[in-house]
Amino acid sequence: MKIFILSILLLSITTLINGGITSKYVRQAQPANEMSLETFPSPPGHNAPEQVHLTQGDRDGRGMIISWVTPLNLAGSDVVTYWIADNGSDVKRRKKKASTSSYKFYDYSSGFLHHSTIKNLEYDTKYIYEVGTDKSVRQFSFTTPPKVGPDVPYTFGIIGDLGQTYASNETLYQYMSNPKGQTILFPGDLAYQDNHPNHDQRKWDTYGRFMEPCAAYQPIIYAAGNHEIDFVPNIGERHPFRPYSHRYTNAFKTSGSISPLWYSVRRGPAHIIVLSSYSGYGKYTPQYVWLEQELKKVNREETPWLIVMVHSPWYNSVNYHYMEGESMRVMFESWFVNSKVDLVLAGHVHAYERSERVSNIKYNITNGLSTPVKDPNAPIYITIGDGGNIEGIANSFTDPQPSYSAYRESSFGHALLEIKNKTHAQYTWHRNQDNEAIAADSVMMYNRYFFPKEETARDCFIC
Ligand SMILES: *[C@@H]1O[C@H](CO)[C@@H](O)[C@H](O)[C@H]1NC(C)=O
Ligand SMILES: *[C@@H]1O[C@H](CO)[C@@H](O)[C@H](O)[C@H]1NC(C)=O
Ligand SMILES: *[C@@H]1O[C@H](CO)[C@@H](O)[C@H](O)[C@H]1NC(C)=O
Ligand SMILES: *[C@@H]1O[C@H](CO)[C@@H](O)[C@H](O)[C@H]1NC(C)=O
Ligand SMILES: [Fe+2]
Repeated sequence: MKIFILSILLLSITTLINGGITSKYVRQAQPANEMSLETFPSPPGHNAPEQVHLTQGDRDGRGMIISWVTPLNLAGSDVVTYWIADNGSDVKRRKKKASTSSYKFYDYSSGFLHHSTIKNLEYDTKYIYEVGTDKSVRQFSFTTPPKVGPDVPYTFGIIGDLGQTYASNETLYQYMSNPKGQTILFPGDLAYQDNHPNHDQRKWDTYGRFMEPCAAYQPIIYAAGNHEIDFVPNIGERHPFRPYSHRYTNAFKTSGSISPLWYSVRRGPAHIIVLSSYSGYGKYTPQYVWLEQELKKVNREETPWLIVMVHSPWYNSVNYHYMEGESMRVMFESWFVNSKVDLVLAGHVHAYERSERVSNIKYNITNGLSTPVKDPNAPIYITIGDGGNIEGIANSFTDPQPSYSAYRESSFGHALLEIKNKTHAQYTWHRNQDNEAIAADSVMMYNRYFFPKEETARDCFIC
């Protein structure tokens, strides 16, 4: 087994240019074909609940938003029942009603979209929950995170630009095959319904069913991508993010935000800030004002790891969406450096890339200083739009590899961030073609606030 793994590593040997690595690994040629609508029928049973998914429902992880869809809005369809698992027969069952909505989009009418926020859960506890009525009751479970604190280990999965192709399926099931991941950080672009005529909204439903085996059991924290906008004025659809915000909600109000498109949550050892590439972020805009206040609220003694998610990457050296994130970088990069952000996650570009710790904040309109420089206070930028969507892989790089780019590869995959304590987090990126135990790219990340040492990349091939 060891020899087999080693030979795979040798096959994927990489080249050094400017210190950065452009992986020689060539993804097996296979079209990113979408799984058909028929692949994901509704579950059996009268008015059975479907597309069940979870996200954090409060500031600190004692709340969960449970979401599901039913074809009809019958009595009881909008109620979730939940209780602590494994606690004898006298276990207390609680019920919570959802808020329910539906929407029309061109010639499509949605089912009834239910979102129920349950609060005051015990930390670090497994819960069972049920949705549906009579013979169509369906049961799921989740585990709450540990209490927010500096030295609680916690593992995040990272998946972006997933879509619903056979490659997406590989990414999702490879992630699920590893029991380590406890919550997914998802920097945008979910269903790719907008790649179909009139933004075929049935693709939102199939995506919800595709994700359920994962999304009903662990929360996913989303940033919105361009494929969530669904802005099609020529067919009368003039309100950006309308289907997305009906289907995917979050606890933005608990972080003082006015919009579900930018918000924050604290989970275990991490403070996670979610930004919107497709909302105003110039000075005086609500998002700008919110972020300025939010960064002041971060308490590294409580949450040592500061992670930001945004859809459009700021540091990207693939020839797709090149510099689309630039205006937002200009607005916010100095704040990130001053706040010692550990990690910035982006999607959008359908490849994988990890940056050096660099910043580019010296520029003013006369001095011409516009080259990224190594900066120990800067975050590492990860572009992970490599979930496997219908648009396929981005396989053309800018050449030569810029000095800010540490590792780049045109493959589909996902990453794991295993936070060990307040100083160390093992980060690994896994390409779909490898055994899950193999990390194609990895770094033991050091916390910028408590242990701002320079990291050595690729310190772990097999974790
Ligand atoms: C399990 O049930 C007992 C008795 O009802 C209760 O005292 C205890 O707090 C419960 N355990 C948890 C983890 O809630
Ligand atoms: C998705 O992947 C799982 C796990 O490998 C497999 O069982 C399932 O058949 C796949 N689904 C499709 C539609 O290929
Ligand atoms: C621009 O930057 C240069 C050096 O970095 C500095 O000397 C100069 O004062 C700056 N100009 C303004 C208008 O801030
Ligand atoms: C933090 O975790 C790292 C990696 O597991 C370990 O080497 C280090 O000793 C830990 N620090 C403390 C204070 O336990
Ligand atoms: Fe995108």
